[in-house]
Amino acid sequence: MKLLKFLLLFITFNLSAQQGGMWIPSLLEGMNEDEMATLGSKLTAKDIYDINTSSLKDAIGHFNGGCTSEVISDQGLILTNHHCGFSQIQSHSSLENDYLKDGFWAMNLEDELPNEGLFIEFIVRIEDVTFQVLKGVEDAMPENEKQSIISKNSNAVEAATTREAWQNTKVKSFYKGNQYFLFVTERFEDIRLVGAPPTSIGKFGSDTDNWVFPRHTGDFSMFRIYADANNRPAKYSKDNKPYKPKHFLPISLDGVEEGDFTLVFGFPGRTNEYLPAVAIAHITEDFNPSNIAIREAALKVIDAAMKSSDAVRIKYASKQARIANAWKKWIGENLGIKKSGAIAERRKFETAFTNALIEKNLVAKYGAILPEFDRLYNDFAAINIKRRNFIEVFMVTNELMQMTYRAFQLEQAIMANPDNFEKAKADLIGRLKGIHKNYDVAVDKGVYNNVMPLYAPNNVTASIFEKTAFTDLKSALALLDGKPKEVLKKLNKDAAYAYAKPIIEAYTTKIDPEFQQKNEAITALQTKYMTALMEALPEARYFPDANGTLRVTYGQVRGYSPRDAVYYEPVSHLQGVIEKYVPGDYEFDVPQKLLDLYETKDYGPYADSKGKMPLCFLGTNHTTGGNSGSPAIDANGNLVGLNFDRVWEGTMSDMNYDPEICRNIMVDARYILFIVDKFAGATRLIEEMTLVHPKKSK
Ligand code: ARG
Ligand code: GLU
Repeated sequence: MKLLKFLLLFITFNLSAQQGGMWIPSLLEGMNEDEMATLGSKLTAKDIYDINTSSLKDAIGHFNGGCTSEVISDQGLILTNHHCGFSQIQSHSSLENDYLKDGFWAMNLEDELPNEGLFIEFIVRIEDVTFQVLKGVEDAMPENEKQSIISKNSNAVEAATTREAWQNTKVKSFYKGNQYFLFVTERFEDIRLVGAPPTSIGKFGSDTDNWVFPRHTGDFSMFRIYADANNRPAKYSKDNKPYKPKHFLPISLDGVEEGDFTLVFGFPGRTNEYLPAVAIAHITEDFNPSNIAIREAALKVIDAAMKSSDAVRIKYASKQARIANAWKKWIGENLGIKKSGAIAERRKFETAFTNALIEKNLVAKYGAILPEFDRLYNDFAAINIKRRNFIEVFMVTNELMQMTYRAFQLEQAIMANPDNFEKAKADLIGRLKGIHKNYDVAVDKGVYNNVMPLYAPNNVTASIFEKTAFTDLKSALALLDGKPKEVLKKLNKDAAYAYAKPIIEAYTTKIDPEFQQKNEAITALQTKYMTALMEALPEARYFPDANGTLRVTYGQVRGYSPRDAVYYEPVSHLQGVIEKYVPGDYEFDVPQKLLDLYETKDYGPYADSKGKMPLCFLGTNHTTGGNSGSPAIDANGNLVGLNFDRVWEGTMSDMNYDPEICRNIMVDARYILFIVDKFAGATRLIEEMTLVHPKKSK
């Protein structure tokens, strides 16, 4: 039994050599430092994170709160993914200047394009504040009382922390509320677009290739941080200067081969590695499928419209990518969980956990957790799906419903207090303008007709599209003219608003509150489960779930076997682009210039030692959404690649990391340099970078 228990532990939570984990950069000394060394790293913990001298972390920026980016020159040049800069590239694009289609390259500083609202945040330092945050919290307290103390304490810690005037502080929860860390951050707000390849390179393979390997996507774009005269964060001004960073990453021209150490440094968004089996079953068997169906229904309309009109293509590019991305990921996740037998494995693990409780006399303390999970999830499943389906229809896929939802918020604000009117109205105007900037009524009506039957099958009324004022910006704004009372009257007479209001009311007064209440109980139990795991099975290694904070994950360059008799080599080449090339195809067309460069093998210093142009490579780094744009760093601290995706068989790693098949996908840094230099001719950018030969110097 003991051996069995140990084995199970080993399988499920064995995070030893190159087996996953997203680690807190300030805590690498000891365990991680040693393990990294055995994997081939020459870096010390202090090279990665140090608060006294500059370290790798000073080059890593949280890009607009959702992606990662890194500094690659002493003039604040920033590298991130094409898909991370996509909405900025789109916003500068028009039919005349189609930067999505043709790419964009600023040939001097003056041509770099400002982006309102875009920001990059760096981490100045990280401190463990668990003791201060949990002060006064007691086990026996009701959950809401605990949470209120925690949030009061967190605010106090944030306020009391010494920092510079231009810095911010925030406290974040780790290990499901078992540990708390404080982050001191610096946010830059003058971020300009420097360069982007055409979509046919930056998004080569589009949805067909998204989340899969072999991959041939040059998913990168470049920006630049501008700072004020003192090199500090500042709002956009034409007088701002390129930022002088504390650290920037040199770029290796020597590339990688199978077995090489890689470290990915970035801001993973959210993972759920410690779910009970019942939760994984709920998510993959019921929750995901219902959301997949709604997105699929929307995509059917949007995809067809984008193919038949360039104007619609530009308008809907960003939105389509967002909808399609998670849609496809959920499908892969479901397949992976099924194929790897993850639910059964998790149940076996739970048996081992239960046995450990018995062995360690912890049954009285923790024995009720697993049965309680079963009970709570049974009760939670239906409302979780209903709520999420509402979000999919009213906030993700259908824009008319989104506008009515936003208008409903205005009505609520006025009902709460008429003094809220001006501010709420300004918010709504901003939302309406944002939606109408890229709006097409015919597309939206088609989406409505397809998605609404999946949410409210007995209440589909497409005629609202002909009667409402919301489908036209001018008439929508006219609804908001006048005193609050008049505005409410006009709103409630609008066909779409009158139609949507009862559905939205049901959501805000019944569905969402019920969800919140049930979810709170699950969250509290998950906290207790985490505590119990660490107490009952202390031999296992636990890394905290991703929570949008800076993390280090490391591993090696490795291929994998997706199915019987098939092995994927870890490196792809430009040759594969040519193999996939379909002239005129919206996913697999290739710019003539790239074909020419391939034909003449004009690769400059960027080819590999065999004269081939490397393109993407795989690693065993444990990444998730938010790691897009993260640098892949070699054993010496140089940039070798840019993370942008995971492989199809391994997207389940957010719930179940399996070292056999979970791989992250990176673009080779040499391909990026090749595109910037040989394809785009933006040599001024190459000149400001530091290109190195770490392998040759040895
Ligand atoms: N799947 C990657 C990530 O989640 C890349 C998404 C962008 N690429 C695309 N073809 N939509 O976000
Ligand atoms: N493309 C994802 C992102 O935008 C990263 C891929 C993943 O989820 O691992 O962050």
